[in-house]
Amino acid sequence: MLSDSTIVVETRDLTKVFGTVETVRALDGVNLTIYSGDFVAIVGPSGSGKSTLLNMLGGLDDPSSGDVLIDGVSLSSVQNIDIFRSKTVGFIFQMHNLIPTLTALENVIVPLHESSMTKLARRDRANELLVLVGLEHRLKSLPSQLSGGERQRVAIARALANDPKIVLADEPTGNLDSKTTIDIMELMSELNQTQGTTLIVVTHNLQCANMMRRVVTMRDGTIVSDSVPEDGFDRDLMEFRQSGLGQAILEGGKVPDNMADLAQNLKDLLGKS
Ligand SMILES: Nc1ncnc2c1ncn2[C@@H]1O[C@H](COP(=O)(O)OP(=O)(O)O)[C@@H](O)[C@H]1O
Ligand SMILES: [Mg+2]
Repeated sequence: MLSDSTIVVETRDLTKVFGTVETVRALDGVNLTIYSGDFVAIVGPSGSGKSTLLNMLGGLDDPSSGDVLIDGVSLSSVQNIDIFRSKTVGFIFQMHNLIPTLTALENVIVPLHESSMTKLARRDRANELLVLVGLEHRLKSLPSQLSGGERQRVAIARALANDPKIVLADEPTGNLDSKTTIDIMELMSELNQTQGTTLIVVTHNLQCANMMRRVVTMRDGTIVSDSVPEDGFDRDLMEFRQSGLGQAILEGGKVPDNMADLAQNLKDLLGKS
């Protein structure tokens, strides 16, 4: 699904400084707008502030200055951030963080403990989500009985349990082999397209980033590029680039930093700009 024009998340001059004597400016005046149905990759070198940004978006940490608005609500004005977070944000981390003694089904039920649903409705909901992520045959398995990819599928189902406004994923495929990485990215892409889930995914895997419609590149706590391919040439290029052949032809194994650079290089080459 293409994103519509409803804003779900907005940051305003978001800044985070860690430390008191020796300080690190992990985020430096970040302005970012996420629309409903967006599927956004956040890329950038290690230490560029990706995780800090994601933690701020999810209300896991407070900004030093600036603000985060989710659905128009400023997180600084929220009385009980834990409850607000559990109703509006789903998280997927690199480590799946499943509870080892609970089955897949029970792990997905966990976030529903605050909901007004009946016990049966919670089980039905968890069941439905596990079917959605392709684990209908693993409902009663413990995390230790699942493969890495299956565990991450459970984590994705759990993140969706409360029907959150946004799902935040921090290097969700960081521990997976390359085939499983593509499977998980395809699942997220499918959820975005069929369920309209708004997903923000931190990744340093450029192949993953290329599967997403919008790529935000960070460096030193700032956003250095934010490419949303337009219709026409940019979109064609994005799609061509996503194909294996396109990637090989365009990049010859060398992946440029971001779409904007690639588009500009090609436009220059073709005399289109
Ligand atoms: N809790 C913390 N205390 C001190 N410095 C931190 C903390 N968390 C992150 N940083 C620093 O902030 C910068 C951005 O970190 P991070 O957001 O984790 O980057 P990324 O996820 O892009 O690798 C880094 O320089 C990191 O060392
Ligand atoms: Mg990180």
